[in-house]
Amino acid sequence: MTDAIPQLAAYDDATLDRAFATLATEVTKSVTSEDPEAFRLHWLGRKQGRLKLVSDAWLKSAPAEARKPLGIRFNQLKQQIEAALEAPAANRQVYIQNRIDISLPGTVRSPGIPHPLLTTMDRVVEVFHHLGYSTSLGPQVESDFYNFEALNFPPNHPARDTQDTLQIAGQQSKASRDRLLMRTHTSPVQIRSMLAGPPPLRLVIPGKVHRNDAADATHSPIFHQVEGLCVDTNITFSDLKGTLDHAMRALFGSAVKTRFFPSFFPFTEPSADVQISCIFCGGKGCRKCKHSGWIELLGCGMVDPAVFEAVTAERRRLGLDPTPYDPARISGFAFGMGVERIAMILHGVSDIGHFYSGDLRFLEQFA
Ligand code: PHE
Repeated sequence: MTDAIPQLAAYDDATLDRAFATLATEVTKSVTSEDPEAFRLHWLGRKQGRLKLVSDAWLKSAPAEARKPLGIRFNQLKQQIEAALEAPAANRQVYIQNRIDISLPGTVRSPGIPHPLLTTMDRVVEVFHHLGYSTSLGPQVESDFYNFEALNFPPNHPARDTQDTLQIAGQQSKASRDRLLMRTHTSPVQIRSMLAGPPPLRLVIPGKVHRNDAADATHSPIFHQVEGLCVDTNITFSDLKGTLDHAMRALFGSAVKTRFFPSFFPFTEPSADVQISCIFCGGKGCRKCKHSGWIELLGCGMVDPAVFEAVTAERRRLGLDPTPYDPARISGFAFGMGVERIAMILHGVSDIGHFYSGDLRFLEQFA
């Protein structure tokens, strides 16, 4: 700490700038976070402080007109030293090097949050991860074979009318099974997963689906589903009931009851719609459940043997081992639920459009 006092050759602005820049670098280098008091004494000490020594040496011999520019520069240097002393120890060096004025008010940044639909989708997926399921994904642009045919919707079958499909243009020259469309449900990933490997399978399939539906308070042409598929030997309807009953209680609270209503899907037999006891009135009946005490939530059923047969035929066509999905040896169940509907019930949202509006007043409530 005994550096010689630098010589000042002249008093023009350029020389002064250079001389003070050298001093500023010296300040930056001598900042130590361990011993701020030593740093303070070294620069600002009343008698032997370096600032005092330099100012004595330079000011004394300075011509009158150089006193002002010298004074201004000394003040700036002093401020730099004082800022270094005020900054939190670890940051001091960084502040000085970047010449950050830490007395300026900061910019408020609001950190992003996961979208409520993603949070809901993750919650559903997690419930099944805890049951040993893994996640599978598939494309949103799908072929007719995966979305319909292999799921036992034959070409021109009226069951296709239940899923208002958005077709990709210019597909007429292709064979009907290869025509592309926006997937109307996540069920095609059932087929993709069964072609990808043999049972046992326990899969959850979250994703975006598309239907040619007019948007209203409960419909959107793009929405989200979570599909489930379980295939193994000896899977029964009571496995399906137990699994979904557990999942509904994990999602909506342990007091929730489930009931299974006969329904129809081409790819499950028997099929059911699952209802949960109304989480708003506990089943007594209120406006939310249209005074029935029950809320309809998802579709499910035992995998139709026709689906296993379609998978077996496709495996054979692709040169894969056709035996693992022989419907005489294995069985399974599948289910599918709408993510928006679950999020609306969980958060009391009355219009599905809020999820897509990008309105921060809505989204901030989930922060
Ligand atoms: N894919 C059906 C739908 O979108 C739901 C479903 C999935 C039903 C799996 C049964 C089994 O309506």
